[in-house]
Amino acid sequence: MDAIRIRGKRALSGRLAVGGAKNAALPILCATLLSDGPSRLRNVPALRDIETTAALLTHLGRPTQFRAPEVLVAQTSGTVNPEAPYDLVRQMRASVLVLGPLVARYGRANVSLPGGCAIGARPVDQHLKGLESMGATISVEHGYIIAEASRLRGAEVVFDIPTVTGTENLMMAASLADGRSTLVNCAREPEVEELARVLNKMGARVDGAGTSIIQVQGQRELLPFDHAIIPDRIEAGTFMAAVGAAGGNVLLENAPYDDLEPVIAKLRQVGLVIERESEMVRVAREGTLRSVNATTAPHPGFPTDMQAQLMALLCGADGRSVLTETVFENRFMHVAELKRMGADIEIRNNTAIVQGVPALGGTGVMATDLRASASLVVAGLMAEGETIIRRVYHLDRGYEHIEKKLRGVGADIERILLQGSLP
Ligand code: EPZ
Repeated sequence: MDAIRIRGKRALSGRLAVGGAKNAALPILCATLLSDGPSRLRNVPALRDIETTAALLTHLGRPTQFRAPEVLVAQTSGTVNPEAPYDLVRQMRASVLVLGPLVARYGRANVSLPGGCAIGARPVDQHLKGLESMGATISVEHGYIIAEASRLRGAEVVFDIPTVTGTENLMMAASLADGRSTLVNCAREPEVEELARVLNKMGARVDGAGTSIIQVQGQRELLPFDHAIIPDRIEAGTFMAAVGAAGGNVLLENAPYDDLEPVIAKLRQVGLVIERESEMVRVAREGTLRSVNATTAPHPGFPTDMQAQLMALLCGADGRSVLTETVFENRFMHVAELKRMGADIEIRNNTAIVQGVPALGGTGVMATDLRASASLVVAGLMAEGETIIRRVYHLDRGYEHIEKKLRGVGADIERILLQGSLP
C-alpha cells in the first residue's frame, strides 16, 4: 500500500506549476453528454476522479480516452445507456453530474444515489427539486434516482442553499430545455463560471454565472467543444499553505490569483507574503506564523476545501485561532491526526479552537478524505522528524503527483510502499 513519507523543516524554493482544476473538469466532462459530437478537454490533471469519470462516460456509451493532460470523448454511437451504476458513483459523488445532461439530452436517467461521505451527509435534494421544476418526474428506487421527461421546459429554480454541483446540474439541464430558466441563489464558484463558458462555447445561452442569479435560454441542440480548463485554485492554495508551513520562497506558475482572493487575504493575515509576478504568484514566508480566525462559506467566502490546510498551518502559529466550518457538518476528521502530531485543538460543534504549539512532531498518520490528506502533508512539512501518511489514495483523487511537485522545490518527501496488511 502506498504511503507518503515527509521529513519536515526544510525551506522551499524554486518554481511550482499548478495543474488544471479537478472541480471544473468533472462537470465539463459530464457536459459532453449534451452534444453528440466528439469533444476534447485539455489541461486535465492525472487524477483518479478523472479516470472514474472517463469510465462512467464510456459505460454510458461515449467511448472516452484519457491521456493526461487531454481527454477525448468520442462521437455518440447512437445507443446511450443512461444508467450510472452504484459501482462507479460510490467511487466519486460528482458522478451525480450526469443526471441533468442525461435527462435533458435523452429524456431519462438512472443514476445511483451518491450516499454520504466522510465530510457529511451531502444530500442531492436541490438537484432533484430543480429537475422537477423543469417537468421531470423523479423517483428513487433501490438506491437509484430515476428521472424522466419527454423534454425539460424552462423554469424558475430557487435553491435553498447555494450548491455547486446542484447549480452545475441545473445549468446543464436548462441548456437543452424548452424555453428560459432562471436559477436563483446559485453557487458562485469559479468552476461554475468555467462550466458556463464551455456551455456557451457549445451554443447554449447562459448569463450571470458567477453571480447568484443565472439565466439560461434552452437550445434544441448543442455543439461539441475543444477547451483548456482553468488552473486549480485549491491545489494552488494548498501549495501556498505548504510554503507557509515549511518557510521559503516559491514562484507558482498558472496560479489563478483572482479566484484565490479569499485564501490569499487569509494567508497574508497569517504572515505569508503573496504577490503577483507577471503571470505568476510569488509566495514567501520568513517570520513567525500569526494566529487568525476564519469561517468557511460559499464563494467568494473562505473555501471549505482550504479549511484543513489552513488549520494545519495554524497549529504552528503564535496564539489561538478559531476556525468555523459552515459548509459541511463533519469536516474535522483531520483534527485527530493533527493531534497525533502534537497539535493542540479543541472542537466545539462546528468550531475548532487551535492553540499554536512551538513544534509538531512527525509520526504515523491516516488520511480520511481528500483535503484532510492535504492538511497532513502541510503538517508534515512543518514537523520535526518523519511523518508517514497512510491511505494516500485520498490524496491521488485531487492532487497530481503532489510529492514530485513539492520535491521539485526542495521538500524531503517521497511516495513509499508499505509492507504488511495495515492500509
Ligand atoms: C462541491 O461539492 C465540490 N465538489 C466540493 O469539493 C466542495 O467542497 C463543495 O462544492 C463546496 O465548495 C465538486 O465540485 C466536484 P455543495 P458539492 O452541493 O457540489 C448541502 C473537494 O475537496 N446540499 O455545494 O457536492 C451539502 O450537504 C470537494 O474537491 C444539500 O443539502 O457541494 C453541503 O452541506 C469536496 N442539498 C452544502 O449544501 C443538495 O441538494 C454545499 O454542498 C446539495 C447540497
